[in-house]
Amino acid sequence: MESNIVWHQASVNKKDSRDKNGHHSGVIWLTGLSGSGKSSSANRVNQKLFERGIQSYILDGDNIRHGLNTDLGFKPEDRKENIRRIGEVAKLFADSGTIVLTAFISPYQEDRARVRDMFVKGDFLEVHVECPLSECENRDPKGLYQKARTGEIKGFTGIDSPYEAPESPELVLQTNAFSVDECAEQLISFLEKKSWL
Ligand code: PPS
Repeated sequence: MESNIVWHQASVNKKDSRDKNGHHSGVIWLTGLSGSGKSSSANRVNQKLFERGIQSYILDGDNIRHGLNTDLGFKPEDRKENIRRIGEVAKLFADSGTIVLTAFISPYQEDRARVRDMFVKGDFLEVHVECPLSECENRDPKGLYQKARTGEIKGFTGIDSPYEAPESPELVLQTNAFSVDECAEQLISFLEKKSWL
């Protein structure tokens, strides 16, 4: 790192922002296969939090790759950098008193562990959005699995690129067994149990 750069401490800190908002802040890291329901779950939770006056925000894979991470593809080193940058951005949001919902495949255990390490214990909740590959492929909302099967897309997660499921996530949402609304309620109940809300 450049040695002539000094960290500037703002006079309003994370605790001040949390006290003002009246709730905890941190990152809810949703990980799962393409089509597993990460974005739908994040969106429903965000909507419910908004209705309760809670400051929350979604960082979503497809959207971030249109802007901040437009220079990155899907090679392992690109996915690693994608997740690193999102971790840094999520940390800034958490410092501002916001509950951040991230919706990235984030297929590698090591990359997710690195992001967890950026946060104070308890400010990072890993949520496995679990759905069998066969069901994700059946849903195929963007037609990408079909393209991956015909070889039109190379290195697609679950087909010819690995997905390392979390070994001990804070929460598992089973999107093939519960509706989007039920999954959102499960996550919100969990946040209440953790005294985030
Ligand atoms: S990662 O692995 O976390 O860096 O990926 P992420 O930033 O979440 O982006 C995943 C979305 O990109 C689309 N897409 C692919 N996914 C997986 N593998 C390959 N090769 C690929 N190419 C494009 C796909 O629409 C993913 O969106 P979701 O919402 O997960 O279905």
